[in-house]
Amino acid sequence: MAKLPVISISKNALTNSGTLAVLVASDLKIPAIAASLDKNGQLKRAIKVAKFEGKIASCVDVMVPEGGLDRILLIGCGEPSKATETDWLKVGGKIFSAAGKAAKVTIVTEAASDKNKISTEAIALVAAGAKLSAYQFDDYKTKSDNGKPVTMKIALGADEPTATKRNWQRMSGVTDGVLLARQLVNEPANVLGPVEFARKAQGLKSLGVKVQVLGDAEMKKLGMHALLGVAVGSEKPARMAIMQWDGGKKGEKPLAFIGKGVVFDTGGISIKPAGNMEDMKGDMGGAAAVTGLMHALASRKAKANVVGIIGLVENMPDGKAQRPGDIVTSMSKQTIEIINTDAEGRLVLADALWYCQKRFKPKFMINLATLTGAILVALGKTHAGIFSNNDELADNLFKAGQTTGERVWRLPLDPDYDKLIDSKNADMKNTGGRYAGSIAAGQFLQRFVNDVPWVHIDVAGTAMGSPQNEFNRSWGSGYGVRLLDRLVSDFYE
Ligand code: BES
Ligand code: MN
Ligand code: ZN
Repeated sequence: MAKLPVISISKNALTNSGTLAVLVASDLKIPAIAASLDKNGQLKRAIKVAKFEGKIASCVDVMVPEGGLDRILLIGCGEPSKATETDWLKVGGKIFSAAGKAAKVTIVTEAASDKNKISTEAIALVAAGAKLSAYQFDDYKTKSDNGKPVTMKIALGADEPTATKRNWQRMSGVTDGVLLARQLVNEPANVLGPVEFARKAQGLKSLGVKVQVLGDAEMKKLGMHALLGVAVGSEKPARMAIMQWDGGKKGEKPLAFIGKGVVFDTGGISIKPAGNMEDMKGDMGGAAAVTGLMHALASRKAKANVVGIIGLVENMPDGKAQRPGDIVTSMSKQTIEIINTDAEGRLVLADALWYCQKRFKPKFMINLATLTGAILVALGKTHAGIFSNNDELADNLFKAGQTTGERVWRLPLDPDYDKLIDSKNADMKNTGGRYAGSIAAGQFLQRFVNDVPWVHIDVAGTAMGSPQNEFNRSWGSGYGVRLLDRLVSDFYE
């Protein structure tokens, strides 16, 4: 993996070597601690010449200033009291990229005035932004064009180092969860099949997560023929991983997160066109987010009982593959007529959702899935689509989206749409026709949740290939980890 920076936090981080990054608010005042370096007014002049306004993540790069420093980066942080979580991540990301190949970077976060004080949470987010921006999927590049990579050491100065360290400890667990999700999405399917993915989930045991993996025989016994029907066309056997974090009160109902983990989606017999089919290595983005979330919650020792369930299969065309017209019996005993073998994600989730509610009696279930191309048509890449049977849960998720910048937008479920998936030959069919494709998929899933409060998040537009920004240079975005970590911490801990 890309070399990630090593972060440290201390009271006074002033230095006279390496790179110094100074956060400057839109009042353009230079914090006293850094102003002491500016004996001949060089920084003030640089601000003028560059027409720097202190906008979020804007930057003035002052090379070889007076004294021993290599460079001083003035980094805008707007009006700190109004800056969002995304803004702070961008600030951190900008510092990382502007510092280039520097081995030592010191960040001054002490404010020039009380009004523009930078909170301990914000400082932790700056550190997180730097780490997130450093991540690149470069494991398979044998020739580096950037020369020898260096491990950047980032030291942040903070007025309240103890509280800042506490916040960073929390944020660093969440950051690692995002990076894990990104890496899982980026890995190609010849490396990361269902078995290998399940092994990654097993890795969470080291954080105190209980992990159980179901194989074909166990899933057959449970009657999960909707999920298994997708896997029969592949040489790779299916798996289901069940991760449990018991950080809450004993006996308290768990919060449940369920992920679609199609390690590769060819479409099956209803095969996809070749153009961009390679993107379907990311069709396990939902499962990656659930795994990353479990990592985040366990490493920050969340005070909640949480289960994560991921259904892992590969959707391939083959002599053994299921056909359009086939009828399968799900674990719920409801029968499904397969109209299009490319609508496979809902088949995987049908059994995972049913299993989850029967075994765990959860407080709520939230599933994430790269489920429909239609959600890209509706919402593009900025919002994930959500579908829910519960207003309170959907509202909480919306709020968590606004806070973290991992935004969601609710679309309807309705008995009238439910008719789209009624079948002549079975209890339901797996596709509904040309219109309202994302909603039809939501209606399908709803038939497997009973009365459990539930949200389906369609992340087909957000889990991968999302627009790059200051803190994301990766194709796999890790979308959903920060969103759901925030949902848990703001509403259920
Ligand atoms: N994995 C795809 C959805 C997808 C499309 C994810 C583009 C990410 C980017 C899913 O399994 C699928 O193929 N859905 C079909 C459903 C259709 C057959 C009803 C689709 O969206 O075309
Ligand atoms: Mn598909
Ligand atoms: Zn799919």
